Amino acid sequence: MPSNLNNDRQAYKYDQVSSYIMQLIDHGTLKPGDKAPSLRKLSQSLKVSISTVNQAYLALEDKGVLSARPQSGFYINADLNQNIEKPKPIISASCQPRKVRFGQLFEEIFTISNNPRIAPFAAAKPSVELMPIKALMRETRSVISRSPAASMDYFFPPGHENLRKQIALRYADLGLDIPADEIMITTGATEALSLSLQAVARRGDVIAVESPTYFSVLRLIEKLGMLALEIDSDPETGINLDSLEFALDTMDITAMLIVPNFNNPAGSLMPDSHKQQMVEMLASRKIPLIEDDVYGDLYFGDERPCIAKCYDRDDMVLSCSSFSKTLAPGFRMGWVAGGRYHEQLLEWKQATSSAAPSLQQLAVTEFLRSGQYDRHLARLRKAFRSQVEKARFMIARLFPEGTRISDPQGGFVLWVELPRAINCFEVYTRALEQNIGTTPGMLFSSTRKFRNYIRINCGYPWTPQNEQALEQLAGIINDLNR
Ligand SMILES: Cc1ncc(COP(=O)(O)O)c(C=O)c1O
Repeated sequence: MPSNLNNDRQAYKYDQVSSYIMQLIDHGTLKPGDKAPSLRKLSQSLKVSISTVNQAYLALEDKGVLSARPQSGFYINADLNQNIEKPKPIISASCQPRKVRFGQLFEEIFTISNNPRIAPFAAAKPSVELMPIKALMRETRSVISRSPAASMDYFFPPGHENLRKQIALRYADLGLDIPADEIMITTGATEALSLSLQAVARRGDVIAVESPTYFSVLRLIEKLGMLALEIDSDPETGINLDSLEFALDTMDITAMLIVPNFNNPAGSLMPDSHKQQMVEMLASRKIPLIEDDVYGDLYFGDERPCIAKCYDRDDMVLSCSSFSKTLAPGFRMGWVAGGRYHEQLLEWKQATSSAAPSLQQLAVTEFLRSGQYDRHLARLRKAFRSQVEKARFMIARLFPEGTRISDPQGGFVLWVELPRAINCFEVYTRALEQNIGTTPGMLFSSTRKFRNYIRINCGYPWTPQNEQALEQLAGIINDLNR
């Protein structure tokens, strides 16, 4: 706490008291629902009069930051982040299958995310500082000394049996009986998605996706010569089932690919009843569903959301995931539970990349088996939740009026709708000139329709440098808004 404030005019002092309280909130020292320091205490520590502190508190009350409780003092509003406007659904006038065409922007997002000098708001990437590096290294060392030969040998598809059993046990926790023999280990979720698309569709086929959708999915569709059909989505509940039904009734759709839990970028979470309806709608037309559940374990509430596979009576859901967002992105450990497509998946995997890395499979197996993974997840969920909440709060305060921010209930990315006049590509290039990464919204659609949106990665702790970078980003956006 500063010993005093600048000895300046009274009005200036009261501004500084407000900024000081806002800073404590930004830093998470004061949280929604907490009691603010008493007038007397703050006046003593900041060396200003009680009436100056009172004036500052009344101004913060007017702004909806504090509220006074009789006989008790001032409190940080419990719903501080609840009044932040969320992005609006975009309903497309027409939805048609399209060829996807990406320029070099796609690769650039990944390149800049490897550069430690660039503020890490671009790729959806957790900080490895939040990962249990020491414990994982301990398991890795002990695997090498106990099973040196196995660590160096091939584990041909479907991959290490004990890892598949551990994954099957995690499915059992969701009430799903998936035998380990129907699970295949892959090189991250990206390979699981790629093999799944190749197992169920061919060049020229139409793949239904939600809109906005994770840009690597669009890139895969592009590279495989397939067409993307973007179905509009609700920012909170995900894909619009009426639009999906209309598309299924009027178009020739070969497969669907979706992120039902904490979608990237919108953060939407499909209610279980929607998942069930979607699975039934597709199964009745014999259309396979590829689901990507990389964020499912990162829920902020009390319960892990279920997956579409839970409603898969016809065995037509290919459920993909990985440990990249939760444990070790660089281990590249993913998997797919492919239902009736398991054999085709094995063929594609063997033909295109054969075995996944053995040492990592063995180490992750031990990490899961010992119970360390679940303990780590509990900590990680808390960290992501507080990082996301803090980012929402800061963005709401710093970005121009009219900004809308998603309110994800899991994961670690924010989808930010800027005032209409702002072009996200300009935000991206100007920010990059100042070594700040962002992802422009237009990457999340083949129609380039999210021109005034950006995605912000909140997978990193809010260090003073990252906070400063966010403030700079706000400055750039405010300038573009003039
Ligand atoms: C929805 C989604 N699926 C898959 C991935 C990539 O996962 P992996 O690193 O395991 O290939 C990402 C990473 O951003 C993602 O957001």
